[in-house]
Amino acid sequence: MARIIFVNGSYLPYADASIHVEDRSLQFADGVYEVCEVRAGHLIDESRHMDRLERSLRELRIAPPMSRKALGRILRETIRRNRVSDGLVYLQISRGIARRDFIFPGPETSPSVICLARRASRKAGDETAQHGISVITIPDIRWQRPDIKSVALLPNVLARQTAIEKGAKEAWLVDKDGFVTEGAASNAWIVDEQDRLITRPADFGILRGVTRGVIIELAKRQGIELVERAFTVEDAKRAREAFLTSATSNVLPIVRIDDAPIGDGKPGRFATELRRLFHTQAEFAD
Ligand code: PDD
Repeated sequence: MARIIFVNGSYLPYADASIHVEDRSLQFADGVYEVCEVRAGHLIDESRHMDRLERSLRELRIAPPMSRKALGRILRETIRRNRVSDGLVYLQISRGIARRDFIFPGPETSPSVICLARRASRKAGDETAQHGISVITIPDIRWQRPDIKSVALLPNVLARQTAIEKGAKEAWLVDKDGFVTEGAASNAWIVDEQDRLITRPADFGILRGVTRGVIIELAKRQGIELVERAFTVEDAKRAREAFLTSATSNVLPIVRIDDAPIGDGKPGRFATELRRLFHTQAEFAD
């Protein structure tokens, strides 16, 4: 089956899909994106992702190219045309195509929209979660606005690549004071001695993960105590449990940080339970 991409108004086979060389996402990483989970053909947490997308656009002063409803139609159509039942959908909006110049182009330049969808195996994800993953820690060298979901991801790419080269699955980024900010493409959590969930407050220093928000609601519903505070690498290595969250990996237990096994070196019960219950709290769109 030919895969189809949405590019600036057209649904095209991959081989025919292209973006202009002066699209500002190429020269300046001047664009934003969202990644949503697709499960059993349903978009997960669409409204939260759309809220965040609108915020990212506002922060970068990119005019929304169309209504939320119209974007929703593109997401659904891209999922449908690629026959994705379980997987993800990626939406990118850049400031558009204009002669290379640092200043914003004029109002005649309209934003570029790209949407793609691809399958991901639910079984493979569950198997990874059953074993748990290793993470490494690495200095956070990003700019000071990682709360904006921009396509400027080079530090994240380098961090994830280093993790893979060291046999781990994710890198936890560490600020100059020794506190974990978040993962290269996920939010970071630990469970302390008192069985409290700890995660960094979603200020300007991290991305306010949609999965993170759902887990906070779920923890409240389950009567689990939650503390939003920064934690150090040492706190994490001493923790009962550690895990990460993202739209593409849900809740993923962490069993090793650098050279330290976490807890008994097996996926923890909080992470396992929150993963099991995640979709009872998430929003399923039609
Ligand atoms: N990344 N932090 C960063 C830096 C991320 O890139 C992501 C998601 C998250 C988790 O956010 P959410 O729960 O909304 O997915 C946190 C996506 C999955 C990606 O870039 O592919």
